[in-house]
Amino acid sequence: MPRLDADGCVLRAFRGDDLPLVLEAARDGAITRVTTVPQCADEYRARTWIRMQQARVADRAGFPFAIADAVTDEPLGQVGLWFSGVGAGRARVGYWVPAAHRGRGLAGRALRRLVPWAFEVAGVERLELYVEPHNVASQRVATGAGFRWEGLLRAWETIGAERRDMVMYSRLPSDPEARCATPPASTAGAPSPAPVQ
Ligand SMILES: CC(C)(COP(=O)(O)OP(=O)(O)OC[C@H]1O[C@@H](n2cnc3c(N)ncnc32)[C@H](O)[C@@H]1OP(=O)(O)O)[C@@H](O)C(=O)NCCC(=O)NCCS
Repeated sequence: MPRLDADGCVLRAFRGDDLPLVLEAARDGAITRVTTVPQCADEYRARTWIRMQQARVADRAGFPFAIADAVTDEPLGQVGLWFSGVGAGRARVGYWVPAAHRGRGLAGRALRRLVPWAFEVAGVERLELYVEPHNVASQRVATGAGFRWEGLLRAWETIGAERRDMVMYSRLPSDPEARCATPPASTAGAPSPAPVQ
């Protein structure tokens, strides 16, 4: 895994000493409901989760990066690419930042750095992102990295005990880097695409 500079933070491989970040994320329901971070994980389960990230890299099943402070190397979140369940040339992106570190632009900077690396180094030809319609912060992160709104996937995924609609975004190498429009929350499930810049 490379170490990528991302404007005040870095993207790097997960390490065993990132345990406090995973324990923090495990207590954050907004993260555990949409990621593989185990809810209320103890140290054993958190260490197992870190080993799972390392195994994904080894198996080429994905590239899970820790987002870390560029000066202190303190881990602050995750951003990554995942290849399971998508066709050749495609990858899903995902990211999370625990509540204590949100609102500082970390996810946005991390995703904007990941995108060119995915296209130029990892050989991805189409990036995809699935977001719950109410998750405006995540949609801002996506559009800030040039992702385009594609549509509403009805009952796409089981989250908790329920089938949930998901909004799909994508990014192609030919798309402009500038922010694309986010549909207003009231029309996030509208059938026609939102205008893009
Ligand atoms: C989504 C998430 C990663 C954002 O992390 P972050 O580091 O705070 O994101 P950033 O600071 O880069 O940007 C957030 C953007 O959303 C906006 N935002 C934040 N909270 C918001 C809210 N409640 N309503 C509307 N906009 C909001 C910010 O103003 C910012 O917009 P800008 O780029 O126009 O300035 C974080 O909230 C999180 O981990 N959520 C739980 C897990 C999750 O949902 N992951 C994504 C799954 S698809």
